[in-house]
Amino acid sequence: MNMQDKVAVVTGAAAMLGSAIVRAFVQAGARVIAVDIDLPRGQALAAELGARCRFAACDIASDDALDALVAEALRTEGRIDFLVNNAVVYGDGGLDAARGEWLAALNVNLVSGAMLVQKTADALAAQRGGIVNMGSVGGKFGAAGRALYPAAKAAILQLTRNQAATLAPRGVRVNSVSPGWTWSDALSRMAGGDRALADRVGTPMHPLGRVGDGDDVAQVVLFLCSDAARFVTGADIPVDGGYSMLGPDQGRSAGGWFAPQDAGG
Ligand SMILES: NC(=O)c1ccc[n+]([C@@H]2O[C@H](COP(=O)([O-])OP(=O)(O)OC[C@H]3O[C@@H](n4cnc5c(N)ncnc54)[C@H](O)[C@@H]3O)[C@@H](O)[C@H]2O)c1
Repeated sequence: MNMQDKVAVVTGAAAMLGSAIVRAFVQAGARVIAVDIDLPRGQALAAELGARCRFAACDIASDDALDALVAEALRTEGRIDFLVNNAVVYGDGGLDAARGEWLAALNVNLVSGAMLVQKTADALAAQRGGIVNMGSVGGKFGAAGRALYPAAKAAILQLTRNQAATLAPRGVRVNSVSPGWTWSDALSRMAGGDRALADRVGTPMHPLGRVGDGDDVAQVVLFLCSDAARFVTGADIPVDGGYSMLGPDQGRSAGGWFAPQDAGG
């Protein structure tokens, strides 16, 4: 995919998945404004990738910071072609979460991306550009003990359709991608850094037999931004190795559960 001369703004860019998206854009020839609150990792990423990647230290929950981000992007790059709303906070008190925790989580995970869409809409329309919002399998299925994160992710899928309908007349396409378990800081922590263990534990949920990589997600983000997806808007693309095609029976019939050796039956 040739993204020469295009400019992408990617939030949550410093961590593993976000940085994979940044790398994919840079490899395709784009220039990237990598947005994050994590200064050391953001600066290290920009230093590694060179002139095509500029790190912007920015708290996306601040409107002033977002205004400054967009103004600086247009001043230095002259255009914005793509916006990828990827930043997240995972803290989730579930049933016990206080109102302040709810609002703080929704602020980063849902509202800040919406504000960034509002603030970049004119620039994106000028380029007939694209937006990709990050969903999750977590926004599609019930999960005990969680509330804030899945509610935000489910809302993102709906918001994507509303943004797509609103911006279609201006030529801006808006889509989402919904990863399954993806090798990331959080997953690496849970697996004690053991990728093979993560693949083994994740296999029953991911029929393709492993957890995802950041680049699996990044390639689909790039596709959705590219001209190859020029007639695609308001869509969600699962990048989950088959996780969301399964029901609670994990793809095995009742017979397969009663007689495990007969899993196909
Ligand atoms: N990792 C997975 O298994 C998985 C699965 C499904 C979906 N996702 C989605 O992928 C995206 C990335 O997830 P991840 O696992 O890499 O998360 P992560 O926590 O590793 O990274 C999130 C990044 O967002 C940044 N961030 C947080 N608050 C911010 C703020 N206020 N302003 C600017 N930046 C901020 C963090 O500093 C961090 O670099 C998220 O949208 C997540 O919902 C991840």
